[in-house]
Amino acid sequence: MIRLEVPLGSRSYPVVVGESALSEFQSLLPSEVSRVAFVTQEGIDASIATELPSSVHYLPDGEQAKRLAVIEDLCGAFAREGLTRRDLIVGIGGGVVTDVAGFAAAVYHRGIQVMHVPTTLLGQIDAAIGGKTGVNLEEGKNLVGAFWQPCAVICDTALLASLPERELRSGMGELAKYHFLGGRQLDALPLEERIAACVQIKADIVSADEREGAGRALLNYGHTLAHALEIEGRFDLRHGEAVSIGIEYAALVALEMGRIDPARLAEHRRVLDIYGLPRNLPDGCDVDQIMELFRRDKKAMTGLTFVLDGPQGLEVVEGVPENVLRGVLTRM
Ligand SMILES: NC(=O)c1ccc[n+]([C@@H]2O[C@H](COP(=O)([O-])OP(=O)(O)OC[C@H]3O[C@@H](n4cnc5c(N)ncnc54)[C@H](O)[C@@H]3O)[C@@H](O)[C@H]2O)c1
Repeated sequence: MIRLEVPLGSRSYPVVVGESALSEFQSLLPSEVSRVAFVTQEGIDASIATELPSSVHYLPDGEQAKRLAVIEDLCGAFAREGLTRRDLIVGIGGGVVTDVAGFAAAVYHRGIQVMHVPTTLLGQIDAAIGGKTGVNLEEGKNLVGAFWQPCAVICDTALLASLPERELRSGMGELAKYHFLGGRQLDALPLEERIAACVQIKADIVSADEREGAGRALLNYGHTLAHALEIEGRFDLRHGEAVSIGIEYAALVALEMGRIDPARLAEHRRVLDIYGLPRNLPDGCDVDQIMELFRRDKKAMTGLTFVLDGPQGLEVVEGVPENVLRGVLTRM
């Protein structure tokens, strides 16, 4: 078992990673909790035994769960069972569940404690760590949310055994991102250590920049195009697959701007390929619509803003020329 910490002063919390990390649940319970509300989805088999009174709430599958209406239903159920600010919500599932459970925890009674038990690779290396929670609007993904740190995160790697192949590969998309954030050859590590290495990179970034100034924004590498493709909605892409295409795109944009050389582009492609990830835009992409979605991106406060690789590694680059973005999209 590997134990890490997300150091955030009085809001610091442990992350345990390992084959039977769920056995730590009892010892990680905050003191004085009298009830536990588990939030999960059908088909996720992660039973947690507790002697405390508990309830289980099932969310719909997929992005359908990330709606304000679902938060209202969930908070209504918490109120009916008498959950108070001293109690605990436990999100057991992928990024959808931990985003929703975390946001419900942030707003119910103006904030109650939440623990995350991520059950997807993407959740274990990314979504459950760092306190970003939220839901989607018709107008875009993750447009309503809160920073709300969990009290602990349990990454039990045994839970990944039941994950469908495609979901595992989706997690690989976020894993690929960490290759360019951490500067280490993560593919040389066994899975448990690789997950822990990603958690450590994310913990370092979050503790230096909890509320997403420049540092934390680097975690969005590959995400601007990924979000646009996801909002477009016509493509059969899992989040990590969309991120993978977004990483390829960001590398091509960086090459076009003279920020990286062809060898660095080749390194991007090597990493995406070892994880078996897609690199090409899906058929039928509408370049005008994607450009419009870039303009609506949350980062686009002072012109089109992308996380791009360069001589100093990843950086947030404002005012990326529109003709470069459009040209690379068209050629892809
Ligand atoms: N908050 C953050 O920092 C952050 C970071 C990255 C992504 N996200 C969000 O995460 C979401 C994507 O998360 P995801 O990729 O984990 O997808 P997901 O949560 O939709 O899970 C994928 C599917 O796998 C199922 N599943 C989960 N665990 C399983 C298991 N152990 N065995 C069998 N089936 C299992 C789920 O029920 C679901 O059907 C997106 O909404 C994205 O915006 C959030």
